[in-house]
Amino acid sequence: MKTQPSPDRRILFFLPIALASLLILGSLRVVLDLRNGQNYFLWQLRSSERINALKFLEMLRDKRLMFVGDSIQRGMFESMVCLVQSVIPDGKKSLQRIPPRKIFIAEEYNASIEYYWAPFLIESISDHATNHTVHKRLVKLDSIAKHSEQWKGVDILVFESYVWWMYKPSINATYGSLQDIQEYNVTTAYRLALETWAKWIESSINSQDQKVFFMTMSPTHLWNWEWKAGTDGNCFNETHPIQGPYWGTGSSLDIMGIVEDVLGKLKKKVRLLNITQLSEFRKDGHTSVYGERKGKLLTREQRSDPKTYADCIHWCLPGVPDTWNEILYAHLLQDYRQRKQT
Ligand SMILES: *[C@@H]1O[C@H](CO)[C@@H](O)[C@H](O)[C@H]1NC(C)=O
Ligand SMILES: *[C@@H]1O[C@H](CO)[C@@H](O)[C@H](O)[C@H]1NC(C)=O
Ligand SMILES: *[C@@H]1O[C@H](CO)[C@@H](O)[C@H](O)[C@H]1NC(C)=O
Ligand SMILES: *[C@@H]1O[C@H](CO)[C@@H](O)[C@H](O)[C@H]1NC(C)=O
Ligand SMILES: *[C@@H]1O[C@H](CO)[C@@H](O)[C@H](O)[C@H]1NC(C)=O
Ligand SMILES: *[C@@H]1O[C@H](CO)[C@@H](O)[C@H](O)[C@H]1NC(C)=O
Repeated sequence: MKTQPSPDRRILFFLPIALASLLILGSLRVVLDLRNGQNYFLWQLRSSERINALKFLEMLRDKRLMFVGDSIQRGMFESMVCLVQSVIPDGKKSLQRIPPRKIFIAEEYNASIEYYWAPFLIESISDHATNHTVHKRLVKLDSIAKHSEQWKGVDILVFESYVWWMYKPSINATYGSLQDIQEYNVTTAYRLALETWAKWIESSINSQDQKVFFMTMSPTHLWNWEWKAGTDGNCFNETHPIQGPYWGTGSSLDIMGIVEDVLGKLKKKVRLLNITQLSEFRKDGHTSVYGERKGKLLTREQRSDPKTYADCIHWCLPGVPDTWNEILYAHLLQDYRQRKQT
């Protein structure tokens, strides 16, 4: 792992404006045929074998699984739905949109896999499912009830929030009075927000019946000089993972430390899905110029301008988020087996 980036390099890990607009993306469905490297496919086939969809649905019987967070989490939700849906016959499954939720239902199992848009976990002015922008952000560091009301009683909750915080080194926020808006250092704000979330976990989660997971930051590959000295592109055209030790400057060690600290103090069981290091290597796994922007594939002209249009934040499906789901599945499978033995 790299040591803490130096102060002037740190500036770079905040997202450039052009790239930040990617966060407003609608659904991220990647048209794989557009990609001409075979590596992508090999990787996909190897990885998706590992989740046994029928078994997983059996484990989910009469349960709700909910992914909460930003568009990275939406990718993980879509990955999970893709991994299990093919074993369910047509007519026995459905996908509903009830903003800010998306709900996949496996009827015969009375099970649902859901997604809940809350890019900061706490309340913010970006909470509308579609009408939101990363350019203007205002978070309410001590407020979560509007969201958490909808998380009540959910059997398995998976939380994640990172990239929206990182647009600038500071963020407008309130703590207490909504009239008192102040600029907070992002690290300070993130800690306060996570503590608000932790307080809700402590007071509302019933560890007997509910399982909670927290996923660490998903890495970005915005600057290829980080793995290839003397270049000034991004993840576009990358077809192989990074070899050897690598930790990008986009993955803030301060924020990682806060996650460790806040989760470490929790009395309720929250399991960490620490996916950052394993995803760091996958500079080849992003949607690049083959994804959608505002629900439309990029035009040929846009695709020929990867410096402006390549998305090096979100991931292709099938791809890296399937691996995250495999880790989640492994935890749940272990619980299931233990439960059966007792
Ligand atoms: C269906 O699942 C929900 C939980 O998601 C549960 O409350 C309900 O009892 C289940 N229904 C049946 C018929 O088992
Ligand atoms: C989007 O939100 C802004 C501010 O919250 C509001 O002024 C605007 O009318 C909304 N637009 C739509 C299409 O709902
Ligand atoms: C905070 O809000 C003020 C007033 O709208 C704005 O000028 C400033 O740029 C904002 N700060 C950040 C960090 O976005
Ligand atoms: C924000 O806080 C971190 C950690 O305390 C510190 O290293 C950094 O210099 C602060 N940044 C600003 C802009 O004040
Ligand atoms: C991308 O790869 C193709 C084929 O290897 C090459 O012709 C092209 O110059 C590369 N483009 C960039 C921006 O690196
Ligand atoms: C996640 O793993 C990385 C190394 O892979 C480690 O540095 C970091 O501390 C871990 N995060 C937490 C919250 O434990």
